[in-house]
Amino acid sequence: MSTVLIKDLPAHIGQRVTVKGWLHQKRSSGKIAFLQIRDGSGFVQGVVVKDEVSDEVFHTAVGLSQETSIEIDGEVRQDERAPSGVELTIHQIAVVYASHDYPITPKEHGVDFLLDNRHLWIRAPRQRAILKVRAEIIKAIRGYLDSHDFTQVDPPILTPSSCEGTTNLFATSYFDEQAYLTQSGQLYMEAAAMALGKVYSFGPTFRAEKSKTRRHLLEFWMIEPEMVYVTHEESLVIQEQLLAHVVSHVLEHCSVELKVLQRDTSLLERVKAPFPRISYDEAIAFLQEQGHQITWGDDFGAPDETVIAKQYDRPVFIEKYPTEIKAFYMKPDPARPEVVLCADLLAPEGYGEIIGGSQRIDDPELLLARFKEHDLPEDAYAWYLDLRRYGSVPHSGFGLGLERTVAWICGLEHVRETIAFPRLLYRLYP
Ligand code: 4AD
Ligand code: MG
Repeated sequence: MSTVLIKDLPAHIGQRVTVKGWLHQKRSSGKIAFLQIRDGSGFVQGVVVKDEVSDEVFHTAVGLSQETSIEIDGEVRQDERAPSGVELTIHQIAVVYASHDYPITPKEHGVDFLLDNRHLWIRAPRQRAILKVRAEIIKAIRGYLDSHDFTQVDPPILTPSSCEGTTNLFATSYFDEQAYLTQSGQLYMEAAAMALGKVYSFGPTFRAEKSKTRRHLLEFWMIEPEMVYVTHEESLVIQEQLLAHVVSHVLEHCSVELKVLQRDTSLLERVKAPFPRISYDEAIAFLQEQGHQITWGDDFGAPDETVIAKQYDRPVFIEKYPTEIKAFYMKPDPARPEVVLCADLLAPEGYGEIIGGSQRIDDPELLLARFKEHDLPEDAYAWYLDLRRYGSVPHSGFGLGLERTVAWICGLEHVRETIAFPRLLYRLYP
């Protein structure tokens, strides 16, 4: 008898198969037991009828406790009422290892308890669905970039200097030197783009942010494309096409998971390029009309972003922020040097900024001036200046935050459920 994955059972109707997994849940009476079985690939209901099996098998079925690992031998039967369309009529059950007093029961648990048990919580149908969607999102991003002439390059995790400002760096010792966990691979990706043209990185990034919000993690994954001879405008087109592709890929490949998550997919179906664009100036004027206490030169808070995003049925770009409040490497708008050629992409439904990007400074003199204004040690950034000294070109790039994208597409309250083992303020376990 061959072992079949639960997800593949519909192709085996009428056959006797082996399923290797765990008992998820159980209901039983004196005559019949219903076992919810999971194997990682999916969930299926197995039925044990007392009169059709030996006493021993029925006794085993009725005595199974949650998360006991089991090997089932049964026949696949079509069942219209089952979500997957099939059910298993069980003939034999072999217990691999028993599980007693599994801490996560079907009752409601508090989130701290669940996070303490994150290593087990990820077995739950909802958590499994999120991790599956996350994996499909990654696949879609890679698929898009790999088929559009991007080359993946891996920047270092241990770095000598900062990319996005020095206030939220995780410091670590590097023998006699000080090192920091990377905040962003961008500066290295700019070097890589000069070598390979169109590149992207995909890896973990770290921000020591002492804020407890539903959008922040201390360790998160970012996709950072960087492109030579690409302007700010052209970069926005790539961003919206990439994201529209990701959403349509998920709609096509994750229907089962989106159903488990009870996601309103009609909202995702609207996510088609092009995306609306407004300027920072327009956003400020709009917020002031709405009664928000904000003036030109301020950065947006989460409530500001939510009110702006609510105006649109797809992600919205906010372009050209004040030079003062953005990173040192962004290129000023030649027509208006008080703003930079940048854009943040806000997800719909209040999920906040999912992409930050810009055209980069290509002029060595201006970059040097920025080092001074931002108090950046010239020697640590000498290599970065070299990129402008040896054949500088206009170039642009952006960073897509994976967890916020997953939270949005899955429709989750908080980013903590978007990654298997979230690193949160004051939480390093498990
Ligand atoms: O806007 P950020 O800080 O941009 C950069 O790091 C650029 N160097 C990227 C580039 O141009 N190559 O971060 C980019 C994205 C944000 O839009 C957000 O989605 C995500 O990274 N992000 C976070 N996600 C979870 N937790 C945090 N603490 C995050 N900080 C940023
Ligand atoms: Mg940003």
